[in-house]
Amino acid sequence: MIVASILFSRLFSSVMNRTKWTVGKVLVRAKELLREKGISQHGRDAEEMLSVLLNLSRVELYTSLDRPMNLEELEEYKAMLRRRMAGEPLQYITGFEWFWKHRFKVTPQVLIPRPETEILVAQAIAFIDDTKEPSPLVCDVGIGSGAILGSVLADRGHVLGVGTDVSYEALKVAKENLLRLKVMERCSLVCTCLMRGIRPEERFSVVVANMPYVSSSEMGSLQREVAMEPRIALDGGPDGLFWISQLVLQVAHHLKPGGMLAIEISPQQVDKVKLLFKGKGYDGMKVLKDHLGRDRVVTVVRTKER
Ligand SMILES: C[S@@+](CC[C@H](N)C(=O)[O-])C[C@H]1O[C@@H](n2cnc3c(N)ncnc32)[C@H](O)[C@@H]1O
Repeated sequence: MIVASILFSRLFSSVMNRTKWTVGKVLVRAKELLREKGISQHGRDAEEMLSVLLNLSRVELYTSLDRPMNLEELEEYKAMLRRRMAGEPLQYITGFEWFWKHRFKVTPQVLIPRPETEILVAQAIAFIDDTKEPSPLVCDVGIGSGAILGSVLADRGHVLGVGTDVSYEALKVAKENLLRLKVMERCSLVCTCLMRGIRPEERFSVVVANMPYVSSSEMGSLQREVAMEPRIALDGGPDGLFWISQLVLQVAHHLKPGGMLAIEISPQQVDKVKLLFKGKGYDGMKVLKDHLGRDRVVTVVRTKER
């Protein structure tokens, strides 16, 4: 702790000791500081923050190790390091996260999109390709940063989308991302609880949802970085299934017969989630695993009317 603070104050005292702070020297110090604070990916984080600050790629950073840093740059980097040392997620500091094929803006008002959520994108696209509808309508419930819907719309130019969220702040971030992907003209955003207020005549071919699914008891033991993400994006009530179970009831009014619902879950919830769909008019349940082999996504198809 003491060593960290001494290093920190020495890190940018270039005027005092006349050290010429170059990219290379600053990186070495920054990595040391982050490591001392127990940041597991200290090397990656130090480099990522500096590349964003200096607007250099990682490769350019490494070919600029002798580039001197001016006082303004040093001050800004110091502020970034302070935030990371205090446990703030890297993506809130750099302001973006990569998801699917795109860079999405993230702020502390939205969940940082996770790689496992790309399963929802893959499932939605595969289903859309299979049905060959001319202009399928996709709803992303709890759109957050817009990562899921934005990725689907960017990959399939004939798809139309609706995104909902209770958080107005999240919808603002989603809109920025959808605009940047140039898909906003095929999309509408609604500030509402789940799918409330969406006209019943708007029948969706696909509904995707990554609802908050952390149980209230787990909320207290979240990793430091995760605990800094919005509670409204994480807390799924006593068993983590409050919003998912509400959605299963609501979605029946909005999904076309033969349309697909794909939801992300916590691996421990799979048996309970299967029960939620029982006798509610869905067929063909599939459970998909994430890259660590854990049950992560459940898809069902609304029974076709006979
Ligand atoms: C787990 S985050 C997922 C965000 C984004 N879809 C993603 O996968 O990165 C859940 C999102 O649902 C929103 N949310 C929470 N409760 C909601 C509700 N009752 N109705 C609509 N959205 C809700 C949160 O604001 C948050 O943006």
